[in-house]
Amino acid sequence: METRKATKKDIPKMFKILKTNSPKYPKKLALQELNEMFSKSFLKPTYIVVEDKKEILGFGGFIPSWIDYRVFNIFWVNINPKYKNRGTGSKLIKEIINQIKKYKKPKPKMILISTKIPKFYEKFGFKKTTSKYDRNYILMEKKLK
Ligand SMILES: CC(C)(COP(=O)(O)OP(=O)(O)OC[C@H]1O[C@@H](n2cnc3c(N)ncnc32)[C@H](O)[C@@H]1OP(=O)(O)O)[C@@H](O)C(=O)NCCC(=O)NCCS
Repeated sequence: METRKATKKDIPKMFKILKTNSPKYPKKLALQELNEMFSKSFLKPTYIVVEDKKEILGFGGFIPSWIDYRVFNIFWVNINPKYKNRGTGSKLIKEIINQIKKYKKPKPKMILISTKIPKFYEKFGFKKTTSKYDRNYILMEKKLK
């Protein structure tokens, strides 16, 4: 099981996983969000895929925030349900945190995530920023040294 940056060719497979995990999310918007990594935007997301024997097991994205370039957001963390509970999601989150830490000038100070499953992110040092954020979502932060 390896992690790497997504390429344009990965998008159909990433989109398929996203549709399975979030069937109600608008499909056109989801595709735009995935393609944005390859756009000319000033602030673009980066998607990391987890791959095993040429199969994409899952992916997740991160992007610096307009609030402050020292703040990063993690989003669209999605593992194919077939490959859940094998450490795939954990490997992905650790790699995304490592990739964020590689940024210099300015050095990242904080990572934010909005999630329904705070327990999963607590394992990687995220803490609840608010007890309630939006419906059943919780905003979580991880401070970087
Ligand atoms: C959440 C998700 C990324 C975890 O991926 P994974 O490959 O199963 O994760 P791992 O195998 O590394 O870790 C599994 C751990 O996460 C926990 N976990 C997974 N899904 C969970 C859920 N819905 N609620 C609570 N805990 C969950 C498991 O209990 C397990 O805990 P343990 O290590 O203490 O036993 C994956 O299940 C997924 O894509 N879910 C659907 C989309 C989603 O909810 N994404 C998160 C959006 S912020």
